[in-house]
Amino acid sequence: MKRWYIVLAIGISLISPATEAAERLLTIGGAVTEIVYALGKGNEIIANDITSVYPEAALKLPKVGYMRTLSAEGLVSTNASIIIAEAGAGPRNVLDQVRNAGIKVVQLSDGSHTPQQVAADIRAIGKELNASNTEKLASQYESSWKQAESKLAGLPGQPRVLFVMNNSGRGAQVAGDETAANAIIKLAHGENVMAGQYKGYRPLTAEALVAAAPDVIVTTKEGLEASGGLQNFLKTPGISMTPAGKSGRIISMDTQYLLGFNPRLPEAVTELAQAIRKP
Ligand code: HEM
Repeated sequence: MKRWYIVLAIGISLISPATEAAERLLTIGGAVTEIVYALGKGNEIIANDITSVYPEAALKLPKVGYMRTLSAEGLVSTNASIIIAEAGAGPRNVLDQVRNAGIKVVQLSDGSHTPQQVAADIRAIGKELNASNTEKLASQYESSWKQAESKLAGLPGQPRVLFVMNNSGRGAQVAGDETAANAIIKLAHGENVMAGQYKGYRPLTAEALVAAAPDVIVTTKEGLEASGGLQNFLKTPGISMTPAGKSGRIISMDTQYLLGFNPRLPEAVTELAQAIRKP
């Protein structure tokens, strides 16, 4: 009799990976959400945050607010079994509270805004979710980045770029060092005109704009809408006095595509690199 119990126990332990219940997954940060879908695990996501705008299926799920201003109550109420959050998600104490409430919280550790970070994120999330195609996706991404990188190396010039963010309702902000915007401008072989001056974002002032004299201004589609469209944006004090304003070289791109550091990074950098070189 005892022997049968042992055989049964071994049998159950062998089949358990296949019969494992799907996670109730809460994804925080557009890049995490995109990677989970790319790994074929999108059906396990029960909720996400408002930066999770791609793929389209992600938009249909309940939202827990904004990844930088999370509330413990909102997260716990989803009844998630696991939360995977981007490195920049927070506040930290909110994620700690959720952990203390017994929910598994995995926060990605690399917030370096590099192409290598995306590959590391794919591998970390894939491992966490036991996704069988993790290595395939990571190496596909790596080879498409390598291809993009070698094309970028041949591009002429180094346009002087100013990045304006206006998604937060706090008014227009300009990107300095250690931002995703600064990183993507460099990857596109451009020069961030605010590099070396300050870290993070600062309110846009007419004086700073004129002094920075950008050739081209990059902003987000959402931010441009919040400014009341291109014509209103061009009326922002100082902009018309910059080379970018005079020549109308204002580029807007989807926020999550441009700044998300997700698997679409090779295409986003290539598109930006071409756009900032268009006369
Ligand atoms: C609830 C409205 C929002 C608020 C209050 C807000 C606030 C902020 C703040 C304060 C920062 C700067 C962080 C820093 O200084 O390090 C930031 C950055 C950022 N936000 Fe938001 N945001 C909002 C909505 C959004 C949405 C809807 C998206 C995307 C769809 C988004 C995407 C980003 C990204 C990608 C950055 C990083 C930019 C970079 O590092 O260059 N935000 N946001």
